[in-house]
Amino acid sequence: MFKIAVIPGDGTGPEVVAEGLKVLKAVSEKFDFNYQLIHYELGGEHYLKTGEILPDSVLEALKKMDVIYLGAIGHPEVKPGILEKGILLRTRFELDQYINLRPVRLYPGVDTPLKDKGPEDIDFVVIRENTEGAYLGAGGVHKKGTPDEVAIQEAIHTRKGVERCLRYAFEYCRKRNKKKKVTLCGKTNVLTYAFDLWERTFKEVAKEFDDIETDYAHVDAICMWMVKNPEWFDVIVTDNMFGDIITDLGAMIQGGLGIAAGGNINPKGVSMFEPMGGSAPKYTGQGVVSPLAAIGACQMMLDHLGQAEAAKAIESAIMKVVKNDVKNLSAGKMGYRTSQVGDLVVKYIQNS
Ligand code: IPM
Ligand code: MN
Repeated sequence: MFKIAVIPGDGTGPEVVAEGLKVLKAVSEKFDFNYQLIHYELGGEHYLKTGEILPDSVLEALKKMDVIYLGAIGHPEVKPGILEKGILLRTRFELDQYINLRPVRLYPGVDTPLKDKGPEDIDFVVIRENTEGAYLGAGGVHKKGTPDEVAIQEAIHTRKGVERCLRYAFEYCRKRNKKKKVTLCGKTNVLTYAFDLWERTFKEVAKEFDDIETDYAHVDAICMWMVKNPEWFDVIVTDNMFGDIITDLGAMIQGGLGIAAGGNINPKGVSMFEPMGGSAPKYTGQGVVSPLAAIGACQMMLDHLGQAEAAKAIESAIMKVVKNDVKNLSAGKMGYRTSQVGDLVVKYIQNS
């Protein structure tokens, strides 16, 4: 029995999570596993109503779950930073979800702005360090609001944090068994302390994996190549800030936020899976956003829970939906309601 915490969150989060849960129910019946859902009301709406961000009691409860299924956190009426740091980053940090795993794969039928590239060219994974770097928030501000204001925000990279992320990337690459290549994305020409640590550790860890080819690219160059030559990549590993940026680019080339999913992973603890898009306040409650990213997050979650067959069935169903039915994944342009897309995925699972 899996204990799954569900945090639908804000905006379109609840709508897309509902579809993910619909799919979860369908695969659990077909592949015969049990789970228990524990819902938590967290997010901007809840914060505005109660003043509560992430109560310690909830955090403690989350630590006892098998996984967390998250919709979206973010509210137009809450100052930026409060919910992001208070809920999302706090969960990642306190649960030590040190890997942010973001597959970038173009399914046949999905429209990509890279017109000349096809599904065989766009299939890689970004492994983003998820608990350190600039996100640690070290620093402060001096003489705020005056002409002499100074703001310092330092990035912190530890040998331990870097090494465990790199090792995860190599192991993931070996397991994935595709091009067998890990590319380190950094900025060794400018961030000479931080990425020297990354590069040295990368070379050391690589020695344990002689079946895997290694490569290095600066983050700015990677942005160009992800668009121009995405077929070069298999596994890209990088720090928190660069990973945040390049995975938004990755989401676009795989067809957009309607399909991009990710996981916040603690390989030995409680991991959290989410669609990559935000709360999309503009579309909230209209039933017009794609649930496929949230359903893809459900697929990653089941894979993580050891339900490989159920996960595969979800992925095949998603691939059928984008090939046969939903030709445009943009909000409001799908030609289907959010719940109808969820129903299609369920139908393909049941008929497979
Ligand atoms: C993401 C998001 C978060 C991040 C924000 C909401 C704090 O952009 O998951 O990539 O920067 O990590
Ligand atoms: Mn981001």
